[in-house]
Amino acid sequence: MKRCSVSYLRNIAGVCVFLAICVTIIVLCLTLGRPPKDQRRTFITGEDMLDYLKLQGVIDSKDGLLVSWSHGANNKSQMEEALKSDIMVLEADVNVEGYGTKNQTNIPIMAHPPAVYSDNTLQEWLDTVVVSSKGIKLDFKSIEAVSPSLNILNAKASKGQIRQPIWLNADIVIGPNVNHNIAVNASQFLGLIQTKFPDVTISPGWVTLYLPPILSNRTYSWEMIQEMYNLVKSLPQRVTFPARAVLTRSAWQHFHWLLQQSERYTLTLWQGSSDPLTLEDLLFIRDNSHPEQIYYDIYEPLLSDFKQIALNPHRKRLFYSGGNLELYFHPDDDDGLWVEWFDAEGNITYVESILNGNSGMITFQVEMRDINSSVIAAVVLSGSDTVQSLETVLKLVSDHFSPWGVFLRISDHASLNETLRILRDQSKQRALYFPVWINMDVSYGSFSVPGYIDGKDFINSINNIFPFVTIAPGWPAEVLGQGYTDQIAQDMLKLCKGLWQEVSFQLQAVALGVAWDGAIKLKNTSSIYSLTVQHDGPPEKFMDGYKGLMTIRSHTENKVYYKLTHDDRISFLYSVYTS
Ligand SMILES: *[C@@H]1O[C@H](CO)[C@@H](O)[C@H](O)[C@H]1NC(C)=O
Ligand SMILES: *[C@@H]1O[C@H](CO)[C@@H](O)[C@H](O)[C@H]1NC(C)=O
Ligand SMILES: *[C@@H]1O[C@H](CO)[C@@H](O)[C@H](O)[C@H]1NC(C)=O
Ligand SMILES: *[C@@H]1O[C@H](CO)[C@@H](O)[C@H](O)[C@H]1NC(C)=O
Ligand SMILES: *[C@@H]1O[C@H](CO)[C@@H](O)[C@H](O)[C@H]1NC(C)=O
Ligand SMILES: *[C@@H]1O[C@H](CO)[C@@H](O)[C@H](O)[C@H]1NC(C)=O
Ligand SMILES: *[C@@H]1O[C@H](CO)[C@@H](O)[C@H](O)[C@H]1NC(C)=O
Ligand SMILES: *[C@@H]1O[C@H](CO)[C@@H](O)[C@H](O)[C@H]1NC(C)=O
Repeated sequence: MKRCSVSYLRNIAGVCVFLAICVTIIVLCLTLGRPPKDQRRTFITGEDMLDYLKLQGVIDSKDGLLVSWSHGANNKSQMEEALKSDIMVLEADVNVEGYGTKNQTNIPIMAHPPAVYSDNTLQEWLDTVVVSSKGIKLDFKSIEAVSPSLNILNAKASKGQIRQPIWLNADIVIGPNVNHNIAVNASQFLGLIQTKFPDVTISPGWVTLYLPPILSNRTYSWEMIQEMYNLVKSLPQRVTFPARAVLTRSAWQHFHWLLQQSERYTLTLWQGSSDPLTLEDLLFIRDNSHPEQIYYDIYEPLLSDFKQIALNPHRKRLFYSGGNLELYFHPDDDDGLWVEWFDAEGNITYVESILNGNSGMITFQVEMRDINSSVIAAVVLSGSDTVQSLETVLKLVSDHFSPWGVFLRISDHASLNETLRILRDQSKQRALYFPVWINMDVSYGSFSVPGYIDGKDFINSINNIFPFVTIAPGWPAEVLGQGYTDQIAQDMLKLCKGLWQEVSFQLQAVALGVAWDGAIKLKNTSSIYSLTVQHDGPPEKFMDGYKGLMTIRSHTENKVYYKLTHDDRISFLYSVYTS
């Protein structure tokens, strides 16, 4: 109940701060009057589409699934039809008149290739569409069309005549199954927007081709995602990446990474007219994103089927095994403090009773054991000599409806490889829809200690056998006498450089109390890094970890997990909310 009153107090405090800010702004506006003329104006055209549609009353929550799209509302009759419908965003294609012919002009017209003539110019199209309250998405088919179109947009916005968000789309990076460069020039497209009309949402896409699996299993690669990210990472605008829906699930690990790079990033899933997109593909994407992060520009009847199932709160989620815990558990305020941790101990009946009565992360110790005369990866339950095959235990977790994730503490390299092979098989059988963390204490650089797995071997095994996990490395106990120093933190960062997975560094509360500056640096290096602070032992030893726990808590509330025994957790919550 402590928790309710604390969040209540926080809300009250938040409202007061908000009111104070409002009053300040009003006072400033009254005293300062109108902004000076030379200051660049910003237009509503750059605003968030969901905020806009919600304000208009056409959607009731910020959920990309509620938004509807027209396709190719280009010539006058198509445009009129889309305007008359209840579609929320008009999507249209822009090119220059006569593109690629002797008669090419620089007049932007509304046409989809191969058509290069139209009864509708961009100017006419805009004059009609801006009167409606519908959102606008313009898809540029050539770089030649961009500059004259931005001039037209800027002129119209400057007269205060555009009152809806504008998205500008162009395919600027080479994507899956495409060999020759037919993309719109990226640096020119992005550069023109910055100089001529920056108040937009940018929709930069990959040129893609879908081929059936017997011809190609290619999907978006890490390099393709990196190339795109490097183009947009310094831009100030909102960015929505159009992703070919049929190829998105198979590259989810990379889109998961991309979405976490900025709160301004979203995906717009689109479907080629003959793409064999499945309901399960869409549910997987939905279950691994926030509602406001994904727009669904998908054909009927699939879209309606999907909506009906996706909005049902009682179905079992298809969670990505390498996904993060905030998305899986939805703790209050995204605060890792509210994720609970348990140790599997005693006997399997007892473990089942933990799984039945709670929800959280459960730790299993994994080692190779000779069971029924074959050597297998086994879960050893501490406090007894009970062993169970890892496969059985994973199935037990998977069969529970309440959300559980597993923290696998692995004893050596052979068990690591075997564990990863089992995970790979379970994943192939579509039985691994929960978070999986792989933990070992590793030896590397300034924390090289004999008897521990080499950090490089740890990472290579994961990347070679089954990479779709959260990587949870710790340091050997032998090097923690000085706490988390800059040196051991730097070397750990060096080891993890270039990983696209979620990484959660495993910290011991006692050592953290000795020195913690290195730990802060670890977390600050990347948005996909988190910290897990561990403390165990009997309740009377809680104070040994107190300093480390409180230090890290006072420094940051975001992306830190506390892997504590039940009693220590109660003591810690009490300390956090009374001090
Ligand atoms: C507009 O486009 C539609 C669909 O392509 C087509 O049927 C129609 O004839 C076009 N109208 C004009 C005036 O070009
Ligand atoms: C260019 O315009 C001329 C005159 O209007 C026309 O005769 C010719 O067919 C056009 N050429 C192309 C390639 O469209
Ligand atoms: C894009 O345009 C820039 C400058 O206009 C040029 O330097 C660059 O080579 C072009 N990129 C491609 C891929 O054609
Ligand atoms: C694509 O994957 C399927 C199923 O795993 C496999 O049967 C097929 O041979 C693969 N195709 C190619 C071109 O690699
Ligand atoms: C399992 O453990 C629980 C609690 O530790 C104990 O009460 C129970 O008797 C054990 N069951 C078996 C079958 O050993
Ligand atoms: C070993 O064999 C026994 C008897 O067949 C069986 O009950 C038990 O579940 C097996 N243990 C494992 C871990 O497979
Ligand atoms: C584990 O797998 C990795 C990667 O496939 C391999 O290089 C290594 O030799 C294996 N190690 C053991 C102990 O099986
Ligand atoms: C790291 O810290 C700096 C300063 O506190 C902050 O501006 C930056 O966004 C942080 N970076 C990450 C990845 O958290």
